Amino acid sequence: MENKIENNIEKIISLCKRRGFVFPGSEIYGGMANSWDYGPVGVELKNNIKQLWWKRFVQQRDDVVGIDAALIMNPKVWEASGHLATFSDPLVECKKCHSRSRADQLEGICTNCKGKEFSEAKQFNLMFKTFIGPAEDAANVAYFRPETAQAMFVDFKNVLQTTRKKLPFGIAQIGKAFRNEITPGNFIFRTREFEQMEIEYFINEPKRDEDWQSFFEMWREEMYEWMKQVGINTDKVHELEVPKEELAHYSKRTIDFEYEFPFGIKELYGLAYRTDFDLKNHSKASGVDLSYSEIEENDKFIPHVIEPTWGVDRTVLAVLCSAYTEEADRIVLKLDPKVAPYKVAVFPLLKNKPELVEKAREIYIDLKKNINGMIAWDDRGNVGKRYYAQDEIGTPFCITVDFDTLNDQAVTVRDRDTMKQERVNINELKNYLESKLV
Ligand code: GAP
Repeated sequence: MENKIENNIEKIISLCKRRGFVFPGSEIYGGMANSWDYGPVGVELKNNIKQLWWKRFVQQRDDVVGIDAALIMNPKVWEASGHLATFSDPLVECKKCHSRSRADQLEGICTNCKGKEFSEAKQFNLMFKTFIGPAEDAANVAYFRPETAQAMFVDFKNVLQTTRKKLPFGIAQIGKAFRNEITPGNFIFRTREFEQMEIEYFINEPKRDEDWQSFFEMWREEMYEWMKQVGINTDKVHELEVPKEELAHYSKRTIDFEYEFPFGIKELYGLAYRTDFDLKNHSKASGVDLSYSEIEENDKFIPHVIEPTWGVDRTVLAVLCSAYTEEADRIVLKLDPKVAPYKVAVFPLLKNKPELVEKAREIYIDLKKNINGMIAWDDRGNVGKRYYAQDEIGTPFCITVDFDTLNDQAVTVRDRDTMKQERVNINELKNYLESKLV
């Protein structure tokens, strides 16, 4: 009997630690609050997600190109983008225990000591400050980027000149972003260092609302298709129309795609109409003309922007939550094979029988060469235990080499989800697996 576990992030955190998806950061030094490291299995899941995204939105489209920009940009970028002035959250201090919280998330009571008296709210800028070079003075202050988006605006002219793209077209990037969050938490949901996958999609200056709304709709649908592709349960996704008074400083319209995480319904992705806010401000501040013209100079205008944005870590978490299943006596991650960290595991039935180990090793090495993705090897304990371990990391297929293999040149292939076993000829193994792993 299948039992999808609700409201239990602890089970997912524990699975992530024991199987090498995600470890607490700097653990041997007692950890560092809200810092997490992806382990050998987690990094495969995360890389698969990023590669699928790049393939879908950059390589398979004609109208999107990619960049990979510096994390620390000229501080003038953040002045022009509005982040220096407005990228802040209201911060209050509890008068009893002095812990700091976000005023907009408090509900009148300190989560640390239940105190009810707080200092006046102060705006706290979320950008991480650093210094460039050895002198720690005001002239050398710089910031780690709080979003990947700004590089797409700052590099707009270079991309346009080198690719000769015509509107509408997008610039995509995957990379780290940094925010000095006041209240990080909920595992990898909100951290101070995280990854984003973003597209700034440049369109003509709209004459009517429908001109930008049609692109907004196109990206809304694309975001659902993406969620289905990576195995996020879209029944648990809800759209939130961000009210006008809560819109980010650059946005005319934003939809948040929220997911029913075990700790509540929270933002997974965003889709925003950023108008011409960013290119206009960067044009003005840099003195470089960032306008676009199709044919003639007097046709010039500043493109408008639709921005779909995806958090990588929140994708990992939503994928894990969607896949986590408890069935009778086993825990199974029913991951889509496209994102599964390991595609296939190969076992010799017995570790101490060299003829079995040798044959299994041959198959393992052959699959490593010929199947796209990671192949696992396991010769510890018994086959039952190995299935249990592979189910927990979501490996779609396990292959066992037994004594019959030596005579009939066939192996047992066990399907993670149905637990059905099939005999497959070694010669047909590659085609068999490839047809099932797409
Ligand atoms: N360029 C627009 C932008 O950055 P955002 O809603 O602030 O918009 C985009 O962030 C996405 O980045 C979010 O939908 C979320 O998936 C992810 N994200 C934002 N802050 C995060 C944090 N502190 N930890 C993990 N992911 C975060």
